[in-house]
Amino acid sequence: MIVDKTGTPITETENIQPDTRHGVILYVEDVSVSFDGFKALNDMNLYINDGELRCLIGANGAGKTTLMDVITGKTRPDTGKVSFGQQVDLLQLDEAEIANAGIGRKFQKPTVFEQLSVFENIELSLKGNKGIWASLFHKLNGEQNDRIAEILHTINLIQERNYPAGRLSHGQKQWLEIGMLLAAKPRVLLVDEPVAGMTGQETERTAELLTSLAGEHSVVVVEHDMAFVRSIARTVTVLHQGSVLAEGTMSEIQSNPEVIQVYLGEEQG
Ligand SMILES: Nc1ncnc2c1ncn2[C@@H]1O[C@H](COP(=O)(O)OP(=O)(O)OP(=O)(O)O)[C@@H](O)[C@H]1O
Ligand SMILES: [Mg+2]
Repeated sequence: MIVDKTGTPITETENIQPDTRHGVILYVEDVSVSFDGFKALNDMNLYINDGELRCLIGANGAGKTTLMDVITGKTRPDTGKVSFGQQVDLLQLDEAEIANAGIGRKFQKPTVFEQLSVFENIELSLKGNKGIWASLFHKLNGEQNDRIAEILHTINLIQERNYPAGRLSHGQKQWLEIGMLLAAKPRVLLVDEPVAGMTGQETERTAELLTSLAGEHSVVVVEHDMAFVRSIARTVTVLHQGSVLAEGTMSEIQSNPEVIQVYLGEEQG
């Protein structure tokens, strides 16, 4: 087994540096996925730029989650290409390898360890998958301590650092889970419906958090909450029946007749 200087095992994909010389970090080209003959993704083409914050919107069943499943290796497309930077073919990697390569995903339901403290939850993800007890008894070095402090600051949970995660509000648990993803220093973060169930204040704070992560990370956010999308979006991509219907700024999207017809009209009505 190969280990780094802290004794953490290195899998091969961990050292992958995607080739982003063309400014694009994720390429999804001509991708189709069918479930029992139904095309959840239909010749989809999507390019995510390095460091951008992209919002994906679209009606229920448009294919948003399926797209994330394809990028993260959970679902294999029938046809098409998916690559991380220009060179790394994600269709050749399994889910764990894709995560190790630097594509982190946040699911809707937070999966934090409720009995452990906020700090310990991040500590565990920082140390990788050595097992809970081995990890917690293994002393942190200064660099790791600094990194956890930095993450706690980013996700705004410094004061709650010693609380059991089970005592956090729904919104705080979502932030903790984002913090746990950040421990792996992902290049790309995929976030599916982050503000569902959050209070107005939590939603605002989540907008600030995701905005602050862009730049250093490329962030792809799926969300139905249009006010939230408006507050964070630079570029919005509208999915419809498994394909890209439109792409542009929020105001371009909102004045696009096709989008109004198939999606926004429906929301407003
Ligand atoms: N594992 C599966 N087996 C069969 N059908 C599936 C499967 N996963 C998704 N689908 C179907 O594919 C279509 C796209 O689903 P997907 O979950 O990607 O939509 P979505 O855009 O995320 O919708 P929502 O906004 O409701 O989350 C839907 O019609 C869904 O029923
Ligand atoms: Mg979905």
